[in-house]
Amino acid sequence: MRILVTGGCGFIGSAVVRRLIDQTTHEVLNVDALTYAASIKATEAAAQSGRYRLEVANITDAASMERIFSEFSPDAVMHLAAESHVDRSIDGPGTFVSTNIVGTYTLLEAARKWWARQDAERRKAFRFHHISTDEVFGALQPGDPPFTERTPYDPRSPYSASKASSDHLVRAWYHTYGLPTFVTNTTNNYGPWHFPEKLIPLVTINAIEGRELPVYGTGQNVRDWLFVEDHAEALVRAVECGQPGETYAIGARQPRTNMQVVETICTILDELHPDPAGPHARLIRHVTDRPGHDFRYEIDPTHAEQALGWHARHDFEHGIRRTVQWYLDNRDWWDSIRAARYGGERLGQAGEKMGTAA
Ligand SMILES: NC(=O)c1ccc[n+]([C@@H]2O[C@H](COP(=O)([O-])OP(=O)(O)OC[C@H]3O[C@@H](n4cnc5c(N)ncnc54)[C@H](O)[C@@H]3O)[C@@H](O)[C@H]2O)c1
Repeated sequence: MRILVTGGCGFIGSAVVRRLIDQTTHEVLNVDALTYAASIKATEAAAQSGRYRLEVANITDAASMERIFSEFSPDAVMHLAAESHVDRSIDGPGTFVSTNIVGTYTLLEAARKWWARQDAERRKAFRFHHISTDEVFGALQPGDPPFTERTPYDPRSPYSASKASSDHLVRAWYHTYGLPTFVTNTTNNYGPWHFPEKLIPLVTINAIEGRELPVYGTGQNVRDWLFVEDHAEALVRAVECGQPGETYAIGARQPRTNMQVVETICTILDELHPDPAGPHARLIRHVTDRPGHDFRYEIDPTHAEQALGWHARHDFEHGIRRTVQWYLDNRDWWDSIRAARYGGERLGQAGEKMGTAA
C-alpha cells in the first residue's frame, strides 16, 4: 500500500512510521508541519529507507493537500496530525480549532476530491483512517463500565472537544459522500520519544535530575496506559483491515492512578538510577488540580481485539520499565528539546502548566 501518514514526526505518528518501514512493505509519505511537538530524530532510521519520504506541509493548507493527494495517489490515509496537549488547549484553544477541526476538514475535502476521480475499484479499496482519543467520551466515575464504541460523546476540554468535532466530520464524510473512513479512539499512550512536558516523561526526567515531581490534586485520576508500540501495531492492523464506517476503541486493559504511575517510575529509578539523597518518591509534590480534570478514562477493547486480531503485548510494569530505561539512555534528545524550547529552564520549574498532564 501507499500510505499517507499525517503527523508522522509526532510521538505516535513516528512509532507508526517506524513500524510501517521496519515491519511491512508499504510506502510512506509523512506529511507534517513540524510544530514544537515534532521530532525528526524519531524518524531518522526510517528515513534511510527508499520507501519513506517526508513532506513538510500544514494540513490546513488546501492547495498543498490537493497537490499531495494527486502526486502521491495514496491507497490509505492515517491521520494523526493534531494539537494534542490538554494543558496547551486550555491556554490557547485557537490552534486546536484550526489544526484539529479545520485541518481535518481540509484533509477530508482533499481526499474526497481526489477519491472521486479514481476508478470504482480504487474508490472501494481506499481507506481514510482517523486517529482519535478516548477523551471525546468525557469522564468515568468509579464503578462506571469502561468506554466502548457506543459510548455517547461528552468532551470536556478544548482538546477533546476539537477531537470530537473532527471525529464527527470524518463520520459525516462517510455517511454523506461515501468516503471510506473509519475512526480509532485510543487511551493514553506512553513510551519512547514522548514529548517531555507530558506526565510520564516529565516525572521520569525530573526524578532522574532529583527535582520535584508535581502531581495534580490527590493523584487519584485513572488512565488506561497503552505502550506506544502496541498502539502502532493496532493502527497498522486497522489500516490494513479496518472497515468503512467502523469505530475501533483501542485500550490496554491497564488502568492505573496517576499516583501509581509516579510511584512505579520512582521504584524503577531507585533500582536503575539510585539517588544517594534517598528514594525518588520523596520528590512527589501535590499541586492544584487542572480545571475540568477528567477523573477516569478506560476503554473496553473487546471489539477492536476481535476485529483486528490484536491485543496489547505490554502490561504497564513491562512497558514503563522500557520507557524509563529509554529516557536514561537518550538524555541528549530530551536535553536538546529543553534547551531549544524552554531556554534551558528545567522542566517542572515552570509551574503546573508544564507539570502533570495525563
Ligand atoms: N498521545 C496520546 O496519548 C494519544 C492518545 C489517543 C489519541 N491520540 C491522538 O493521536 C494523534 C497523535 O498524537 P501524538 O501524541 O503523537 O501527538 P504529537 O503532539 O506528539 O504529534 C503531533 C504531530 O502532528 C504534527 N502537526 C501538528 N499540527 C499540524 C498541522 N497543522 N499540519 C501538519 N502537521 C501537524 C506535529 O508537527 C507533530 O509531529 C493525535 O491525533 C492525538 O489526538 C493521542
